[in-house]
Parts: sequence; C-alpha cells; structure tokens
Amino acid sequence: MQEKIQEILSEIEQFQASTKEALENFRIKLLSKKGDISILFDNFKNVSPEQKREVGQKLNELKNRAQEKINAQKEKFEQAEDPGIAAIDLSLPGESITLGSRHPISLVRKQIIEIFSRIGFILAEGPEIEDDWHNFTALNFPENHPARDMQDTFFISDGLALRTHTSSVQIRMMESSKPPMRMLAPGRVYRNEAISARAHCFFHQVEGFYIDTNVSFADLKQTLLYFSKEMFGEETKIRLRPSYFPFTEPSAEMDISCNICGGKGCNVCKQTGWVEILGCGMIDPSVLDNCKIDSKKYRGFAFGMGVERITMLKYQLKDLRLFSENDVRFLNQFKSV
Ligand code: PHE
Repeated sequence: MQEKIQEILSEIEQFQASTKEALENFRIKLLSKKGDISILFDNFKNVSPEQKREVGQKLNELKNRAQEKINAQKEKFEQAEDPGIAAIDLSLPGESITLGSRHPISLVRKQIIEIFSRIGFILAEGPEIEDDWHNFTALNFPENHPARDMQDTFFISDGLALRTHTSSVQIRMMESSKPPMRMLAPGRVYRNEAISARAHCFFHQVEGFYIDTNVSFADLKQTLLYFSKEMFGEETKIRLRPSYFPFTEPSAEMDISCNICGGKGCNVCKQTGWVEILGCGMIDPSVLDNCKIDSKKYRGFAFGMGVERITMLKYQLKDLRLFSENDVRFLNQFKSV
C-alpha cells in the first residue's frame, strides 16, 4: 500500500495537463469513486492496526496533494480564458490620444476678441432669445420694418424672437452701465434664410461699440483700420461706403482690399478688388436716449461684423455650410492653427 501511495504521489508531481480535458481525465483517474486514490481508501480497512495510523496519514496527504495540484492547474486554464486579467499585456506601449482642434469660427472669434482687447474693449454678453424692445424697438426699427416680418425673423412667441443681430447687446449694456464704455459682444444670431453656400439660418457676429463724450467718426475709422490690418495684414486698406441702419447715423459698410488678390481683382472680390466685412456708424442719438444716456453729452460709434464672412476670407473657404456640417476632414485642417 505504501508503495502504491508513493507511486501515485510521483505521478501527481510529474503531471502537467496540456488541456482542460486532460486535467479532468486526471481528476477522474485519481479522485472519482472508482479512482486510484478512492480504491486505496477502500482498501484501508485491510491495513494492519499497527500501520493504520501512519498509512492513514499518508493517504490523507496524498488526497490533499492531488486536489491541490488539480486546483492549481485548473486556475491556470481559467486565467488564460479570462481576457480580463491574463490577456492584458502590460509591456505594450500606450495608445496615444489624438489631439482635437478648435473650430475655425472659434479661432477667428478668439482672434477678433484679442485684437480689440488690446485697445481696451471689454467683453459683453446678451441672451439669444430676445424681446422686441432690445432687438428692434430700442434700435429705432420702425413698426413696419421688413426685419420684423416672419420671413426674416424666427419668432418664438408674442414679443420674443431669436435675436437677428448682436446689436441687441448694445441696448442691454447701455441700459445697465454708464459711459464711458468700450465693449465687444460676440455671439450667435439667427435669421430665417434659405441655407446656401453664402447664407445660413444661424451665424456669428461680433458687435463693438464705444460711447464717450468726444467720440467721432474718425475714431471709428481708425479703430476699424487698426482691426483690419491686425486681422488681414499690414498692407490691408479699408474703404467706407455710405449705407443705412436704423440705429446709426451716419451709417456705412466697410470693405477691405481683397486679401486674396491684393486688390487686383479675382473671383472672391468679383473683380472689384474689395470685399465687404462689416456694417458700422455713429450711434443714433435717439438710441442713446432710449437707453437713458444723455445724447447731448455723449456720442458713440458701433460696428457689427460677421465671423463666418471673415473666416471664409481668411482661410479662402467657398461654402459657409462647412462650418456646421462637422466633417472631421474639414475640421482637422485647423489643428495647427
Ligand atoms: N446689426 C447690423 C447687422 O446685423 C450690423 C451693424 C452693427 C451696423 C452696428 C451698424 C452698427 O447687419
């Protein structure tokens, strides 16, 4: 019996299961009801009383050893099957995270803000859902002005609409603070327009205004010239054409010399050498009065520019819809900017 125990013990020590099935067969061979070890237990009753103690101990050790070995090998197979732990190779190099990029509209808006903040303009903000007073009435829009028509403006409910321009922020700021004030109000605006390469139902504007006791049209012109050179390059020229806005008098539209052909004439400037980038003017005294700012004492200028338009010129883009389609092939190109 002792010999048989020894024999099975060395068999256990040498055993290496190559598959799960081989391990199971080994278990059956040793530990099942008719297995080698079980048979030894059955024969234990034949052992002489003097030997019982010693053999009994060895037999128990044998059984434990067999069980231990089988369990250890079983665990190895289970670990290999579980991708959670065993499949992780800690020596592999890490996955690099690709960097995102800023949206071109954000890039240009940021640049506009930087340029004006260098000459003392501070940021202002207003709501995108605006009431009739701030978007139209206080800005001198007459009752029958076409912008007040459903065709041009998204109305939400009686007296509320999505703002059609950032000039509404002028009114809010003039109502809530006192001159002198020099502010810049970037934001999103909405107009009920058919979407095309050159127009969208939402876009971005940056409004600027300056109110003080001695503000002149020359200040406006100089400010805009400074901005244009900073934005499009030192060689950029500007020209102001008379125009009309209900809230400025006199009013103008500003062109810059075409930054693509340098003023010689190309597709972008339609051979004229000039491209329009903003509307501006001296704030109408009645608008100041509407906001309880003394128009006898104070004067101001204001301007409003389209961020999409400036971005298209700067990066020579032909279709405004690219800005809102979220095509990563387009957006990725602004990574290094
Ligand atoms: N609000 C005008 C527009 O949306 C632009 C503008 C702003 C004109 C300020 C004059 C002064 O077209």
